[in-house]
Amino acid sequence: LNREIMKGRKVLVTAGGTREELDPVRYLGNYSSGRMGYAIAEAFAEAGAQVTLVSGPSDILPPFGVETVRIISAEEMYLEVMTRYAEQDIVVKAAAVADFRPAVRNEQKIKKDGESVILELVPNPDILSALGARKKHQYLVGFAAETQNVIENGLEKLKRKKADMLVVNDVTAPGAGFGTDTNIVSFLYPDGRKIDLPKMSKLDVARRLVQEIALNKGIGSKE
Ligand code: PMT
Repeated sequence: LNREIMKGRKVLVTAGGTREELDPVRYLGNYSSGRMGYAIAEAFAEAGAQVTLVSGPSDILPPFGVETVRIISAEEMYLEVMTRYAEQDIVVKAAAVADFRPAVRNEQKIKKDGESVILELVPNPDILSALGARKKHQYLVGFAAETQNVIENGLEKLKRKKADMLVVNDVTAPGAGFGTDTNIVSFLYPDGRKIDLPKMSKLDVARRLVQEIALNKGIGSKE
C-alpha cells in the first residue's frame, strides 16, 4: 500500500452498531462488532489520511492516530456525522445503524406483570441518505448488509441514498458480515459495474477499498 496515497485527505468512517434504549437497563441493538469500520479507519490512517471514526459501542481499540468519537444511538451518530460533513473529502458508512427506535424511553425499568408488552417503534434518521442529499465535493461510500438478492438490493440502496459506491456483504454467508474477522464483499457502482472480492480479512478488504477509492478519485496517479 502506498503510505502517502491519502495524504492530506479528510476521511470520516462510521463503525459498530447503534443502541436504542428502552429503559435504563435495556436496548435494541444488532450484532455489529465494529471490526469492519475500525479496519477501514486503520487502512485510511495507514495511507496517510486524517481520519475521524464515529463509533457505536465496541470493545476494539481504536487505531493509532485516529480521532475517535463515541456515540450510543442512531440520533447521536446522525448529529456527530452531520456536524463534521462539510470538511470531509471521503465518508465511509460501515456502521449498522438501527432503522427504528422505541417511541418512548422509559425513565424507570419496565416491570413485568405477566401481560404481553407492545413496543411502538419510530423510524430513525437515515444518515447515509441525508449525506447523499447534502453531498457537495464529498465522495460517499455506503455499505449494505443483505440477506437475499444481495446485488439487486444493493444497487437499489446505492441509487436511492445517492452514494458514489456501495460495499455489499451477504451477512448470512459463512465468514462474512457481523462479528467475523473476515468478510466477503462486492463493490458496486451506480452504472451497475461490480467488483467481487474473495473472502479476506476485514483489514485486507479495507485496504482494497482505500485503493479503489483512490483510483476512482484519481488520487495517487500523479501526486
Ligand atoms: O461491525 P462488524 O461486526 O465488523 O460487521 C460489519 C457489518 C456487517 C456491520 C458491515 O460490513 C456492514 O454491512 N455495515 C452496514 C450495515 C447496515 O446497516 O446496512 P444497511 O443495509 O441496513 O444500511 C445501508 C447503509 O445505510 C449503510 O451504509 C448504513 O450505515 C446506512 N444507514 C442505515 C440506516 C440508517 N438509519 N442510517 C444509515 O446511515
